[in-house]
Amino acid sequence: MEGTTYLKIIKFNRVTSTNDIAHRLAEKGAREITVVWAKGQTKGRGRRGRKWNSPYSKGLYVSFVFRPQAEARKLNLLGMAIALAVIYALRDIIPVKIKWPNDILCGKKKIGGILVESKVSLHHPDYVIVGLGLNINNLLKELPASATSIFIETKRKYSLDKIFNLILKEVIIWYRHFKKKDYTEIAQRASENLDTLGKKVVVYTEKKVIKGTAYKIGKDARLYVRSDGNGVKRIFASSVVHLR
Ligand code: BTN
Repeated sequence: MEGTTYLKIIKFNRVTSTNDIAHRLAEKGAREITVVWAKGQTKGRGRRGRKWNSPYSKGLYVSFVFRPQAEARKLNLLGMAIALAVIYALRDIIPVKIKWPNDILCGKKKIGGILVESKVSLHHPDYVIVGLGLNINNLLKELPASATSIFIETKRKYSLDKIFNLILKEVIIWYRHFKKKDYTEIAQRASENLDTLGKKVVVYTEKKVIKGTAYKIGKDARLYVRSDGNGVKRIFASSVVHLR
């Protein structure tokens, strides 16, 4: 029923990774939306096998258990929907943008990231875990030069509860869009909030390097790039590097 969402929030002090806990709960039948929230992680992980630095009480480390009736190939759009939830939740606090597919940037620096993991059978997900990491009260010296936090940008400390509640409210809204298959809405809003929109990009795919201008995210969750000299390319989950 529209308007009612089952919600179970489980809070921890320290865990290995909230995504690990969420997987375990999902395997045991946890309903959507189950939310796992920890104050610190000892083995936080990011995309492409990278580590997600998760100092205690400095950032938000949250994983959502979803069970959408969607095709597996649409799951990148779910990651984008959650990135949009973060953008809308933070709109009165700090301007952030999406670096495709679902990094969250403030200016040129990374402030948050999203990790989508799923268990899929017969092209449909049994469950999807979306993990969100957001740097909130980290000091400059605590982060690599390529990263920033809400504190560094605004000079204000924020309560994790406040940011969590703002984000949760928007996650519920954007997850509803995804469940209703409002893929065009998600793609359009993601395009509007795309950091690389209209910019020259170099895309490294497994087979080739494409140079061009990024102009939208499609409802197929691909990045559309007008390539220099060779028509439009639709890019699927590769790395995008800006030309300076
Ligand atoms: C990325 O940018 O590479 C994605 C980072 C995702 C980090 C979050 S923190 C909460 C959840 N638990 C994890 O181990 N990873 C995600």
